Amino acid sequence: MATPETPSSTTVLVTGGSGFIGSHVILQLLAAGYIVRTTIRSLGRETEVRKTLKDAGGDVDDRLSFYAADLTKDEGWPEAVASCTYVLHVASPFPLEVGNP
Ligand SMILES: NC(=O)c1ccc[n+]([C@@H]2O[C@H](COP(=O)([O-])OP(=O)(O)OC[C@H]3O[C@@H](n4cnc5c(N)ncnc54)[C@H](OP(=O)(O)O)[C@@H]3O)[C@@H](O)[C@H]2O)c1
Repeated sequence: MATPETPSSTTVLVTGGSGFIGSHVILQLLAAGYIVRTTIRSLGRETEVRKTLKDAGGDVDDRLSFYAADLTKDEGWPEAVASCTYVLHVASPFPLEVGNP
């Protein structure tokens, strides 16, 4: 018989944890008791993003981890998604190059 899933045993990946939607999703998941991973393009922003989430009331110490991954590259995604039960993909790249018609 399969082990019942509970939030405390379920890992959710949220892409784009530095974004408006991503940060709100992370706060909701943490409040519901989930283990949360999030991607940011550079781990150099982890402290800043973690502080923003903490200031907004998130319990960011034990159940939140950060992975570096960019949607325009393959690197980092296998590690970020490994062992996750769910992925909430809310990161959104804005390519600056616009082709001429
Ligand atoms: N905000 C709204 O009210 C709203 C409503 C409806 C739909 N949406 C949609 O929801 C999505 C997210 O919106 P948002 O308001 O949260 O946008 P946002 O605040 O601009 O956040 C975008 C997120 O995507 C990340 N990102 C950008 N380029 C990336 C790349 N190449 N690889 C990986 N991550 C990348 C950003 O990371 P960096 O910090 O590294 O830039 C940031 O975390 C968008 O598709 C938007 O159209 C938003």
